Amino acid sequence: MSSKELRSTTVVRPRQMSVYFVAVVAAIGGLLFGYDTGVISGALLFLKGSFALNDTTQEIAVSVVLAGAIVGALGAGRVNDALGRKITLLLLAVIFTIGAILTAVAPNLLFFTACRILVGVGIGAAASVVPVYISEMSPPHLRGTLVTFNQLAITVGIAISYWVDLAFAHAGMGWPPMFATAAIPGVILFLGMLASPETPRWLASKGRWNDAKRVLEQMKGLDPENELIDIRSSLLLEQRRGGMRELFQPGLRTALMVGVGLAIFQQLVGINTVIYYAPIIFQKAGFASANNAILATSVVGVVNVFSTVVATFLLDKLGRRTLLLTGTGIIIVALVALGIVFASGSNQTSTLTLITLMVYIFAFAISMGPIFWLMSAEIFPTRLRAAGSSICSFSNWVANFLVSLTFLSLIHLLGSSFTFGLYAFMGLLALVFCWKFVPETNGRTLEQIEQYWNKKQKMA
Ligand code: BGC
Repeated sequence: MSSKELRSTTVVRPRQMSVYFVAVVAAIGGLLFGYDTGVISGALLFLKGSFALNDTTQEIAVSVVLAGAIVGALGAGRVNDALGRKITLLLLAVIFTIGAILTAVAPNLLFFTACRILVGVGIGAAASVVPVYISEMSPPHLRGTLVTFNQLAITVGIAISYWVDLAFAHAGMGWPPMFATAAIPGVILFLGMLASPETPRWLASKGRWNDAKRVLEQMKGLDPENELIDIRSSLLLEQRRGGMRELFQPGLRTALMVGVGLAIFQQLVGINTVIYYAPIIFQKAGFASANNAILATSVVGVVNVFSTVVATFLLDKLGRRTLLLTGTGIIIVALVALGIVFASGSNQTSTLTLITLMVYIFAFAISMGPIFWLMSAEIFPTRLRAAGSSICSFSNWVANFLVSLTFLSLIHLLGSSFTFGLYAFMGLLALVFCWKFVPETNGRTLEQIEQYWNKKQKMA
């Protein structure tokens, strides 16, 4: 058969696209989440000078972004459902890019604060939209790995922000380029999302079955026929149900409790006391110079990235529960150890603190870190996925805000040992919660997970 004949008999298939490609593109939203939250740690030193910040205005400069994120998380569900995952991510890319440039040229604290709130809205929304997009594009056996790209990107974003801060600080260029740098991933996210498709599940939920089928055929490694059958049967089931209220009825109420519980415990074990305040912890532990404290922080950032890579490989092999329980157990031990190190007043405190924090970060990165975001995107049925995961994201940002805002005062009030002891106690509660309530979702399709809650509802 000549090549001309072959072409005329070949069915024209849409251009094939890899699920890895779309997951990596969407995860740039996670990178921006990490970068834009981490960048403040180094930038603060310079902002202090430019805007004559006192302690209170410093706290405001750090935490306004979290206030913005709370708003973003609240609005994300509606926008994501109404406009679709793709358009929402495109809009967020625009917010990140414009926000980065405006922040860099801020002439005063008020303008700076407004820009950080805007960027925070983007972060809060991206935190739930990215995992939802990736989970709806992934085949079940890769979903854990692919959604964890998001957490990996968050940690890479944090680590890059530490190093970029360090570089611009050394170059004597101050804070503006630190914030402006975020425009680069912002533009890449925009261009990448332009090339990526809408998710088949969202298209089908809007009755656009042909488009949904076309996307499923376009993605390498998906099984279009089976996926369509699954999506169709879960949507049929969904038509008989009623709105957001259902999230609070038996069955899905448990799903919501699992999501919100993980969201809150992820923060109550104190992760962002380390991410945002590590240089201060290291200084308390005896690192003499600020430079050494920042360097130690950057090392913690790198451990965070590599441990998340380990999690990416393990999640779909060992399952969510094994990692969650093991990791949370280690978190508790590390926090107790940290409390003891500070109480002992040993002359090795600085080294011991670095080692303990590395163990702590490793444990978080293989458990609470990725698994909360993963589960928030997979435990809710399609029609309530955007809403459910945005409630989880909202709870996470509120808890983050409260922990970050109270950390320094707690240290002042209780001392370092008791403060870390308190987070260890929260870790213990988290362990009991995970043991009792968090189901294994590994290897199940999103529709099978939905059936799991339906069964629970019948048993209730
Ligand atoms: C948390 C963030 C945290 C990051 C650290 C994420 O899962 O939601 O609050 O800063 O992990 O890697």
